Amino acid sequence: MGRKFFVGGNWKCNGTAEEVKKIVTTLNEAKVPGEDVVEVVVSPPFVFLPVVKGLLRPDFHVSAQNCWVRKGGAYTGEVSAEMLVNLGIPWVIIGHSERRQLLQESNEFVGDKVAYALSQGLKVIACIGETLEQREAGTTMTVVAEQTKAIADKISNWDNVVLAYEPVWAIGTGKVATPAQAQEVHADLRKWIHSNVSAEVAASVRIIYGGLSIVLVLGGSVNGGNCKELAAQPDVDGFLVGGASLKPEFVDIINSAT
Ligand code: G3P
Repeated sequence: MGRKFFVGGNWKCNGTAEEVKKIVTTLNEAKVPGEDVVEVVVSPPFVFLPVVKGLLRPDFHVSAQNCWVRKGGAYTGEVSAEMLVNLGIPWVIIGHSERRQLLQESNEFVGDKVAYALSQGLKVIACIGETLEQREAGTTMTVVAEQTKAIADKISNWDNVVLAYEPVWAIGTGKVATPAQAQEVHADLRKWIHSNVSAEVAASVRIIYGGLSIVLVLGGSVNGGNCKELAAQPDVDGFLVGGASLKPEFVDIINSAT
């Protein structure tokens, strides 16, 4: 069976209760392909998870943006994987570059978090990606392989993992990630997984691309060729969308699945 297209909307630290309801209304009214064609997951801030889950159409799913690395307890300000499971939240984003950079989350910590979230029954969108300096130094694949290895070292079952390749230099910066550049890293990553995990996981794991603000900058609209062109790359299995997931254009990105 082929890899089902996946479109995630990472709302990051944005929105009021009113704005969140508006976004959900737009999504609920959207005409998109069925769940058999595209898996759609939106990731609001923690405080809005219950309301979004309650209002969102049943064929779309919700994700948290983070969770704690082990069982809950005396960890002020954290949210545990068990709490997400208790609320019926199926997905969690782990290792986003903003957390790696701003909160110093290391590869090992991210690997531990992925493993713990999976052990509790959550599905994980695990983020990896190089900085501009690392790309210019020619170390993109080394960096991405190290980040992936730190996850691979801690897990044995990849069924509930989606890998999100998000080049840090393409996140809301105006720098251009071409479909060929995305495809190159996705293909190299799949080769790395083939050699270091297994042929089965390499064939089945979805590798999605993040950094679509570029498409908006370049094309003026995600209806433009770039989004479609990215989606058409053989190793690009979907998108993790930031800024555009707060706008009606997100629906166009979902529709790039077909
Ligand atoms: O997680 C999604 C992300 O970091 C990409 O953000 O705004 O460039 O689509 P954006």
